[in-house]
Amino acid sequence: MGVRAIYPGSFDPLTNGHLDLIERSLRLVDELVVAVVTNPAKTALFTDDERVEMIREATRHLREIEIVVFDGLLVDLTARIGASAIIRGLRAVSDFEYEFQMALMNRKLREEVETVFLMPHEAYSYISSRLIKEVAGHGGSVTGLVPPGVEQRLRKKLHRG
Ligand code: PNS
Repeated sequence: MGVRAIYPGSFDPLTNGHLDLIERSLRLVDELVVAVVTNPAKTALFTDDERVEMIREATRHLREIEIVVFDGLLVDLTARIGASAIIRGLRAVSDFEYEFQMALMNRKLREEVETVFLMPHEAYSYISSRLIKEVAGHGGSVTGLVPPGVEQRLRKKLHRG
């Protein structure tokens, strides 16, 4: 039986670090579901649909991945879609504490799901969606840090041409 894994996140927006993780995951698992957490409070820059569309565009060259939007508990989604692993990226030690807590809470809630940590390429270790939005919001260049389609949408969204 193949491994079906889920890669969850906010993806607001997708970065090249996320994309690197997706590519690495595809080398490990048989089926990958990218799960975009929905944003009922509307605190995200991009809508659910925009975030899904950016992932779809940037992963066209890869073998098929599924993209879903979810709310509620991640472990409930894993049960619903039959995933046995959760993939998360660890960029630096500073990510560890939060990730460790989440992994153990998810294990407590659903013991049969394993969290797997992957490290993105070191060239992406300082990239986060939050910093990308901050830099782009002030007119700085994010070329090479996000897929071209994301860069374009950031420009449009932030009214910079
Ligand atoms: O990209 P992010 O914002 O770091 O992703 C965080 C995410 C979406 C994986 C996390 O917030 C999550 O799993 N949310 C769903 C609600 C849930 O299951 N919470 C309990 C986690 S222990």
